Amino acid sequence: MSSTPHIKIEGNSKFQIGEIRNNTVHYEFEKIKTYLNIKGHLLFGKNFKIYKEDEPLLLKLCCYFIQDHLSCAQFGIDTNKGLLLTGPVGCGKTSLMKLLVHLAPHKTNFELIPTRSIVFNFNAKGYDVLEKYNQTQNYCFDDLGVEPTGSHYAKECNVLGEILLSRYELFCNPEPKRKIFTHITTNLNAKELERRYGNRVRSRLRQMFNLISFDESSIDKRK
Ligand SMILES: Nc1ncnc2c1ncn2[C@@H]1O[C@H](COP(=O)(O)OP(=O)(O)O)[C@@H](O)[C@H]1O
Ligand SMILES: [Mg+2]
Repeated sequence: MSSTPHIKIEGNSKFQIGEIRNNTVHYEFEKIKTYLNIKGHLLFGKNFKIYKEDEPLLLKLCCYFIQDHLSCAQFGIDTNKGLLLTGPVGCGKTSLMKLLVHLAPHKTNFELIPTRSIVFNFNAKGYDVLEKYNQTQNYCFDDLGVEPTGSHYAKECNVLGEILLSRYELFCNPEPKRKIFTHITTNLNAKELERRYGNRVRSRLRQMFNLISFDESSIDKRK
């Protein structure tokens, strides 16, 4: 881990997003926002901005990504579980997951992968693909629910359903001292998830994830 996790370097610029006191980083949300604005511009282009109406949700997510256990507890967020980020199409779920992972990579890191890619990969290569996700690496499954049913040599498979069940087993029985995190973004609500993946998956999702939701009325930021 870098000795200055509270200082972010982008090109020639440095951004201080908190202070170190007693060997602990004390992050400051205002400074984090300034940094995220800049980083968002670099990643997604000049139209990126932090929307005022998204700030309450952003604050929660930041507390999670920096693993601020106390603040998370106040928000009812369990830092040992993953994030299930829901909200309407285009509200910015994928962008936020891609952005926030830069905040404190020594605390929260994962590989973000579209669920559609996983299924396409399964269709081409078969059941070995499921094994890749049955490992201790952290993942964010992006856009759960839009992927087609898997089909390898005419054998059908609910690929993400299977993967989520094996992630649950890993979550419950981690290798010693190695926590396993799985995150999800999705446009589906709880009922739709259950319809798609079945009750077995649905009840495990509840144990594995913190549900964080954009408002139903959040605008599509593509427009
Ligand atoms: N905060 C933001 N400011 C400006 N544009 C944004 C912002 N968040 C997302 N976008 C843009 O809106 C579109 C949808 O964002 P995305 O993260 O893919 O939404 P979702 O995953 O919720 O469907 C993308 O083109 C993205 O670049
Ligand atoms: Mg998305």
